[in-house]
Amino acid sequence: MTHPNPKPRGLRLGVNIDHVATVRNARGSAWPDPLRAALLAETAGADGITAHLREDRRHIRDSDIEALMAAISIPLNFECAATDEMQALALKHRPHAVCLVPEKREERTTEGGLDVVGDAARLTDFIAPLREAGCRVSMFISHDPRQIEASARIGAAVVELHTGLYSDLLAEGHTELAERELAALRAGADRAAAAGLEVHAGHGLTYDNVEPIAAIPVIAELNIGHFLVGEAIFRGLGAAIEEMRRRMDIARRAAK
Ligand code: PXP
Repeated sequence: MTHPNPKPRGLRLGVNIDHVATVRNARGSAWPDPLRAALLAETAGADGITAHLREDRRHIRDSDIEALMAAISIPLNFECAATDEMQALALKHRPHAVCLVPEKREERTTEGGLDVVGDAARLTDFIAPLREAGCRVSMFISHDPRQIEASARIGAAVVELHTGLYSDLLAEGHTELAERELAALRAGADRAAAAGLEVHAGHGLTYDNVEPIAAIPVIAELNIGHFLVGEAIFRGLGAAIEEMRRRMDIARRAAK
């Protein structure tokens, strides 16, 4: 089975439902149900669902991935560490996309993304069966040109640029540093697109910081979770997603 790239609708929104599971797990109960959140996100205009199955299963569980694969009709972006266990699960479920993220300190670059440069040989072998199975393999990396070039070299289809530092700098009021980080993200996005990679971005995005990222024309998808789940407490998940979508679309239209 192959998963062609979904039709671009300007800029896609992937809704990360991990923290619905965090709330569920806090009480060891069955609710709130991440699948229900995913189905609601779909109705509210999400283009995809992202779920991170961590090695320690602190939020999403194996049964959530099974339920999502069986029930959602938009693509699933399965986030995981590059371990044998996760590779076997990805090959079992064959989600639309597999996004490799660092979970351990030694897998990370200084900026917090995956160290594709330092682990290139292993990652090349790791992603080969996933590519053969038809999954779009994505590397969650910093905007470091070396990490971008390495991702292209090892055969990844997608890079997701880590927006965590940009988000933190803005939240802490370091406007100039945030501007510099934004410029580096823009340059990284252009470099990745020129290398033939599809470009995604995510981490720490909110209503207040999403627009400059959404305005980067080569970015095809944003993955957003924690803020949306928090905002859902106040306005409901559907409305929280619709507002994010609205801001993304305005920023993208204005950039054209
Ligand atoms: N993209 C990736 C690769 C992530 O690991 C995460 C966090 O799980 C996100 C996007 C979403 O980040 P946030 O929950 O801060 O919106």
